[in-house]
Amino acid sequence: MKAIRFTRYGGPEVLTVAEVEPPRAGLGQIRIAVRASGVNPSDWKRRQGLFEEVTFPAGVGVEASGVVDEIGPGVTGVALGDAVFGFGTDTAAEQAILFHWATKPDNVPFEVAGGLPVISDTATRALDEVGIEAGETLLVSGAAGGIGSAVVQLARLRGIAVVGTASAGKHDYLRGLGAIPTTYGPGLKARVAALVPRGIDAALDIAGSGVIPELIDIVGAPARVLSVADVSAESYGAKFSHGPPKNPERIFTSMAQLCSEGRFHLHIDRTFALEQTAEAHRISAEGRVTGKLVICPDRRLSS
Ligand SMILES: NC(=O)c1ccc[n+]([C@@H]2O[C@H](COP(=O)([O-])OP(=O)(O)OC[C@H]3O[C@@H](n4cnc5c(N)ncnc54)[C@H](OP(=O)(O)O)[C@@H]3O)[C@@H](O)[C@H]2O)c1
Repeated sequence: MKAIRFTRYGGPEVLTVAEVEPPRAGLGQIRIAVRASGVNPSDWKRRQGLFEEVTFPAGVGVEASGVVDEIGPGVTGVALGDAVFGFGTDTAAEQAILFHWATKPDNVPFEVAGGLPVISDTATRALDEVGIEAGETLLVSGAAGGIGSAVVQLARLRGIAVVGTASAGKHDYLRGLGAIPTTYGPGLKARVAALVPRGIDAALDIAGSGVIPELIDIVGAPARVLSVADVSAESYGAKFSHGPPKNPERIFTSMAQLCSEGRFHLHIDRTFALEQTAEAHRISAEGRVTGKLVICPDRRLSS
């Protein structure tokens, strides 16, 4: 089968399409024929060597949707041929192992399901940990990307009002998600005060753009400011949120239902063939994605 591999840290050019043996489903795992694999900033950060050391040759991708084609020992409740999505390893490939998954509803496209796991887990955790409640107002710095789009919609479903930052061209997109949009950059406190005179109750830093002190100033309490992207947050008394996932199957099942009922939408900015994974990494690293990028191994290069 074809899979993306890299044998040294570096730019997108280190990624190659390799012919490798299919992985085998181990204890508690399933293998899928991958239909869509979401692209995340962690993919290119890991490729650059910014995370924990990898063993070469290394694969790429932590989430996917697809059709079950092997079931490991100890797994119940899933059958060969089932459509599923979840967390896995080396998912930018024709076949991949999943270790946390849920059933994909028939009316949710594989492209959407393949981009759901990371954003749903991270957005749910961030909302839970920042401690915001129905009737309160949340400021989201970086609302138009994958995590931001999920945070906005899940917050609205919890009865929380949301002010979200993005560049001006994405303000209609944010309104469509249910947020009050504003631009990022200097003067954020004044813009937010004009939009929400009664004040902001909590803030999430999703973009990791160095705004923690400003968010604390806006909210007035460091403990109600949380970042998923800026490890310096704790040095200001704010929170930094990271994995491992706490209850991914429950979160995936809930997200699948929300998507199926049309109450949660994931905008797929662009899909790529497996051979275009390097291009997908390059675009992700530019930091301008709206919603998600997805790699579809069965997509022809020409389509
Ligand atoms: N800690 C965790 O558990 C965890 C888990 C997953 C991801 N993350 C991290 O979370 C971060 C976001 O991930 P993601 O998947 O949402 O990224 P993404 O989809 O690539 O984010 C792209 C979005 O960021 C916006 N953006 C760029 N600069 C901005 C700024 N200065 N202010 C506000 N918005 C800005 C862009 O909007 P414009 O085009 O309008 O600028 C674009 O829509 C990444 O650093 C990722 O590594 C952390």
